[in-house]
Amino acid sequence: MELKILPPGIANMIAAGEVVQRPASVVKELMENAVDAGADQITVAVTDAGRTLITVVDNGCGMSPDDAVLCFERHATSKIATAEDLGKIISFGFRGEALASIAAVAEVTLRTRREEDQVGCEVEFAAGEHLATRETSAPKGSMFSVRNLFYNVPARRKFLKSDNVEFRHIAEEFTRVALTRPEIAFTLIHNDRDIFVLKKAKSLKFRIMNLLGTNIAEEIADVEADTSVVRISGYAGRPDSARKTLGNQFLFVNGRYFRSPYLHKAVMKAYEGLIPEGATPSYFIFLETDPSSVDVNIHPTKTEVKFEDDSVIFQILSAAVKKAVGANTFTGDIDFYSPRSEEVPVVGKLTGEIKGLSGFTPKVDTGYNPFSNESGKGNYRTGDTLKQDFSPLFNDAPARAQGLLVFQGKYIIAPSDSGIMVVSVRRARERLLFDRFLDAVSKNTPVTQSALFPSTIQVGVAARTLFDENAGLLSSLGFDITPFGTDTIVVNGVPEGFSCESSAVRTMVDNLTVILSEDKTSLKTGMLSAVAEKFAVLGASGNDSAISPTEARALVDSLLASSNPEFTSRGKRILSLIGTDEIEKRLF
Ligand SMILES: Nc1ncnc2c1ncn2[C@@H]1O[C@H](COP(=O)(O)OP(=O)(O)O)[C@@H](O)[C@H]1O
Ligand SMILES: [Mg+2]
Repeated sequence: MELKILPPGIANMIAAGEVVQRPASVVKELMENAVDAGADQITVAVTDAGRTLITVVDNGCGMSPDDAVLCFERHATSKIATAEDLGKIISFGFRGEALASIAAVAEVTLRTRREEDQVGCEVEFAAGEHLATRETSAPKGSMFSVRNLFYNVPARRKFLKSDNVEFRHIAEEFTRVALTRPEIAFTLIHNDRDIFVLKKAKSLKFRIMNLLGTNIAEEIADVEADTSVVRISGYAGRPDSARKTLGNQFLFVNGRYFRSPYLHKAVMKAYEGLIPEGATPSYFIFLETDPSSVDVNIHPTKTEVKFEDDSVIFQILSAAVKKAVGANTFTGDIDFYSPRSEEVPVVGKLTGEIKGLSGFTPKVDTGYNPFSNESGKGNYRTGDTLKQDFSPLFNDAPARAQGLLVFQGKYIIAPSDSGIMVVSVRRARERLLFDRFLDAVSKNTPVTQSALFPSTIQVGVAARTLFDENAGLLSSLGFDITPFGTDTIVVNGVPEGFSCESSAVRTMVDNLTVILSEDKTSLKTGMLSAVAEKFAVLGASGNDSAISPTEARALVDSLLASSNPEFTSRGKRILSLIGTDEIEKRLF
């Protein structure tokens, strides 16, 4: 075999594979260059989620005609000159390969002018080839236009996801850069629509509010720590605002976004015992360290970093977040999927609460849980046999509601000749919603209940695209949701069985976002039962409204008529029978 040095065109294409994974990578690199160029106004405009056109305009320092060509060369950078410089990088870029990589896999036009130059210049590249340079009039600064990304790498182009997904990535990268520089004005435009118009912000907090909605200000607490190893500033979500919702989790070091599962754990550790399992708080954490103690050069996209003192930073970060959020008392009502909320009253505890019984300790099996799954999923009674067991309840209509007891708002207790039936309200609702959703989606017969007052909820651009993407599915389930602006939705109605109360709707929207973002495969491939299950859990957990005896009766009736009154689709026990013999055994 003959050993050869790769021609630069091929080398650049290989490098491009690492730096440019999708349109969002181009947006990130061009935005970072604009920031490094000292701009205070940066506009990003994309067409078709960046696959047709990405334009980034800045009012920074601009380039000379020579540099405008040179900047597309591999390893052309104005940001470091010596190896020593590597130890004190404060700019975003320094590897000098972003523009070369982008130009290798797209058609690129750069128009630029420095303040001191009379005329500007325009440079064209395509597939790594320098096509033209001409004089042109141009405002001070630079404008990069990147057309037809991956046009010469069909495999890559095919690999791109839907416009919604690709645009979500773009919005994410945009958000990350915008968070690091509140003092710069940023605009993001998609298909001629303004998505974000961020004025220069007085502080990080205002920038966060502009990006994520003003509500967020009430949900975050200041994080501060100043040590010799690291200075930490930023915000962390109050525990009661932690949701199973789309990530607003941001870590920055020396003004640069980075990913770190390790430091994410440090933040999460501070919330131990404060938030339900599976919930993740928002956080915006800025670390400042001596640039020589952190290596940002371990990955081509520079989103992974290595700290000299990572375990020390872990401790300091965890303590700082704990201090910030520990001070706020937890008032959470977030029990989405939380098993604890379904805990069954233990008999021993109950008897202790009955006055007059103190001193008398009945022999009870405190481990007995009428909702335990022991009896197995397949082995259940049908509604009809249950009705037979409870025949006195079902025969004598007027007496019916009388016989029911709603216990702790969570359980319905129905006595009968053969024993006592205990029904979990929430699980009964889940079963009914599941049956109804399955029906609604497969037959397209949703039942919507209109809200008296529509809820206008600013969900953020990323979540909004999810709602746009799944509009058909949502309406087939009975949601009546209309888009508003670029980052807001209006909930006009919810499926029957869901709560219409505005705070419940708000929580529902958060959880809906989670379902839509997590479950793309089952949503798309039409795994109806998986979809129906998710939504049934959502509706049942979001509806904690008090239940009247009449409603309890209706619920029990519908439950017994449902496809499986004993277990939810997740295999959780809905009702339990405590037979007369069981009761007698306990008493004697
Ligand atoms: N928007 C811009 N304004 C002025 N100069 C720029 C701009 N974008 C890129 N450059 C110049 O082009 C060089 C190469 O950019 P790039 O390939 O991203 O490498 P890096 O950012 O790592 O230096 C930069 O170092 C800078 O000198
Ligand atoms: Mg760069």
